Amino acid sequence: MEKYVIHGGKPLRGSVEISGAKNAAVAIIPAALMVHGVCRLENLPEISDTDTLLHILTYLGAKVNMINRTTVELDCTHVQMDILPERMWALTRKIRASYYLIGAMLGRFGKARTTMPGGCNFGLRPIDQHIKGLTALGAEMDVSGGFITASAGDGRLKGTTIYLDKVSVGATINIMIAAATAEGRTVIENVAREPHIVDLANFLNSMGADVRGAGTDVIKIRGVSQLHGGTYTLIPDQIEAGTYMAAVAAAGGAVRVSNVIPKHLECISSKLREMNVEVEEGDDYVLVRRDGPLHQVNLKTMPYPGFPTDMQPQMAAVLCCAPGDSIVTEGVWANGRFRYVGELKKMGAQIEVEDQSAFVHGVDHLTGAVVKACDLRAGAAVVIAGLAAGGVTEVEDITYIERGYQDLVGKFRALGADIQCVQIPEDRPANWNAG
Ligand code: UD1
Repeated sequence: MEKYVIHGGKPLRGSVEISGAKNAAVAIIPAALMVHGVCRLENLPEISDTDTLLHILTYLGAKVNMINRTTVELDCTHVQMDILPERMWALTRKIRASYYLIGAMLGRFGKARTTMPGGCNFGLRPIDQHIKGLTALGAEMDVSGGFITASAGDGRLKGTTIYLDKVSVGATINIMIAAATAEGRTVIENVAREPHIVDLANFLNSMGADVRGAGTDVIKIRGVSQLHGGTYTLIPDQIEAGTYMAAVAAAGGAVRVSNVIPKHLECISSKLREMNVEVEEGDDYVLVRRDGPLHQVNLKTMPYPGFPTDMQPQMAAVLCCAPGDSIVTEGVWANGRFRYVGELKKMGAQIEVEDQSAFVHGVDHLTGAVVKACDLRAGAAVVIAGLAAGGVTEVEDITYIERGYQDLVGKFRALGADIQCVQIPEDRPANWNAG
């Protein structure tokens, strides 16, 4: 097992290159299962979630050819399996995005069966809108015993109009994938508008699908009989970029965050400016600088283009050192998503959680402590706090962080941070002889 050891209190300086978007990659890799021919994906993030999905496709019989660390060629032409064999269940239970295999297998084979997905623990994560959408497309759905089973009566789904009761990224993606090869026209209303929804639509279209309206709240899909091969370059990761921006806000300094789409960062940039952080936009980069004291702010997370819930823990970590009182309200996840608060408190943060809000009273400084990454973004929050804190912070359970951040340690070290990934020695009895 490994942990991060951070000697905090050093301002960040230099330039950081943002990797491909995790949440686009974890939708596009399963969607590639629908493609007949070679599908080349570029700017894929090198993280454990994409690795897990590529492993799953390999087990299913796809040819997976890594061209370099961030480019892969996938050929799923000869995949015939519509049921995930038992040896893959541990993988599908590890990540959230494995449920996109249901949409992809239904679209490709008219049948699908996989385990319930895993992923970050934000309390209850219902999938009723996925089920509602796929059922409307003509699939018989069964969720029981930890499995999701789906079958489209005569083998092909049928386009229809679907209204989502809740704006859901996952349900929008699953239904889009399945509808790409359904018979006729599908209209999905009240859909999510996140950048990765648009990226998935662009990917599907470049493989021969006909998806329109992604980025608005209505998506219209004309089903095609099959998708063909092609090359697609993924968008940069909005949340990874936001995490580095937040780290500069917390630790101070000046950093060029490169390979980004500044438009996707506007909600984060404008909040940081309110906090007295300078953010200057270029064509494909943002310059972030913080010299003076932070200002308190209130923020509430909302579906895109609102402030992203996946940046909520990182911003709360920054606000721990903003003089005055800030309120961080969670508007997407019902249980507040505040498990990281207990970890920040170990570092001297003053935060109280009530219902859907965290009340943050800014302190003079944070102090290093031994803390845990409770989930992916909670992990990013404690790293940010550790970079700003005085003394030494040790971050345990970093596998969560590695699910979504490519080379986090290398990137922060290049910015001048004193952070290392070290092996945790296992507890051994005194008479243990390793030799
Ligand atoms: C995705 C992201 C996650 C992010 C979230 C919101 C991936 C792999 N994960 O998760 O990092 O925090 O979007 O931006 O892309 N809901 C229902 N019924 C459903 C589905 C969702 O009630 O069938 C509710 C959820 O409980 C939640 C809200 O809708 O309150 C949003 O969830 P959703 O957008 O689906 O999140 P995920 O796709 O799981």
